[in-house]
Amino acid sequence: MSALLDEATRIARQFDYPAAEVRRGVAEYIRQMNEGLTKEHTTLSQIPTFVTSVPNGTEKGLYLAVDLGGTNFRVCSIDLHGDTTFSLTQSKIMIPRETMSAGSAKELFLFLARQIESFLRIHHNEHFEAHIRRRNEKNGNCEEDLFDLGFTFSFPVRQLGINKGTLIRWTKGFDIPDAVGQDVCALLQSAIDELELPVRVAALVNDTVGTLMARSYTSPGETGTFLGAIFGTGTNGAYVEKLDRITKMQTIEHSEYDKTTGEMIINAEWGSFDNHLSVLPNTVYDQQLDADSINPGVQMFEKRVSGMFLGEILRLVMLDMHRNESLGFLKTSASSDVSVPKTSSLYRQWGIDTSLLSLVEADKTEGLEEIKAALKDHLKIERPSIADCKAIQTVVHAIGKRAARLGAVALSAVLIATNRLDKGDLVDIGVDGSLVEYYPNFEGYVREAFREVPEVGDAGDKRIRIGISKDGSGVGAALIALVASKEDARMKAQ
Ligand code: BGC
Repeated sequence: MSALLDEATRIARQFDYPAAEVRRGVAEYIRQMNEGLTKEHTTLSQIPTFVTSVPNGTEKGLYLAVDLGGTNFRVCSIDLHGDTTFSLTQSKIMIPRETMSAGSAKELFLFLARQIESFLRIHHNEHFEAHIRRRNEKNGNCEEDLFDLGFTFSFPVRQLGINKGTLIRWTKGFDIPDAVGQDVCALLQSAIDELELPVRVAALVNDTVGTLMARSYTSPGETGTFLGAIFGTGTNGAYVEKLDRITKMQTIEHSEYDKTTGEMIINAEWGSFDNHLSVLPNTVYDQQLDADSINPGVQMFEKRVSGMFLGEILRLVMLDMHRNESLGFLKTSASSDVSVPKTSSLYRQWGIDTSLLSLVEADKTEGLEEIKAALKDHLKIERPSIADCKAIQTVVHAIGKRAARLGAVALSAVLIATNRLDKGDLVDIGVDGSLVEYYPNFEGYVREAFREVPEVGDAGDKRIRIGISKDGSGVGAALIALVASKEDARMKAQ
């Protein structure tokens, strides 16, 4: 084997995450998870969402939803038909990096409200105009015809009610300090009111909760969906917890909620599992990524699992190998010229997108032609050798597999701690995100790890049904807006 492949294999081994470590991770996750249910300010936040039931597919109505928290900002209207189907109209814009670190919260939220305005003008203009007419007739006072909107805001929020919650911290590269500690629903509502839009922010929704709700609406089983998880730009999960296990509810300030179901969806915020690194693997590349990030020491699980970070880990490994002259990595062999141009995003922090990892892992061609094409398209790297491509594939495989196995730690821990597998029924999990959707065999690696955890094992693995829940952040947000508006009407009637 060439020195280059030897080195790639040596580095890949650092990303091994063996069965014993998976089991240790699960035990610690359960401990941190239970701790998060008893008090605030723990590493796993375990945020109560005030959503106390999951849909059964019969819900009906027209709702608006907006989604901030991934690569794109989306505005949609969702028509729930009441028969497990829906129609969805949406517009999507990529969030400019400048907006992610805009000068002020006001700037960001006005930007969002303007997108809602143009969406309404294009897709619901009649409704919009009718509302304006009625408002003018009634001298500005018009509660009629307001659209109920579900606000999918996928960052850690201390939730105080179904449409109330303060931002704990930004993640995924967002950084607008004056928003931290503020009620994000109120911020959105005041931007909406400034533009006089016929919209009421009815619900605050994490994308994982939306995923869980959407999955439960579209594929209702006897028991509904139990868990929603995102493996995309970021990672996180939400699940159905018994109310009496959420003992911190007694100590936190909150608005009224329906207690009759005895359950509540918990947003785990597992991106911050084990921030103090008691069990998480920690290679030199993980350490470097964290040190150079805008939030060192937090989201430590996410930094090993989600799309935004896997590309960066790969970039750090590739740079390391490239700088090691003796390996000849990414140097054209004839002249030994550097084949990575200065303008390549290999030299730029966050310069590698997860889609590159998916392409690399998927390439089964003999000449690794797809990897070559991807290196050219993504990184302007010309004429890499077969050994270069193999080295990259070896490293990518190790980084991706470790991510999936870590994902399995969180999933199995939640299943075990809630005794969900003891009942013998199918357990339904809705998932979304670029990694789980496009990274080859991501689910397969997750399941391999499930079987290595004795409390899950072969039998448990067979009972776990995992399904992609598309548009969770839209449909799920609509479903929660529906629950919220019904609850609001019920309270007003009392
Ligand atoms: C956020 C979560 C979110 C996840 C997936 C994380 O960075 O903290 O709130 O659910 O990304 O989008």
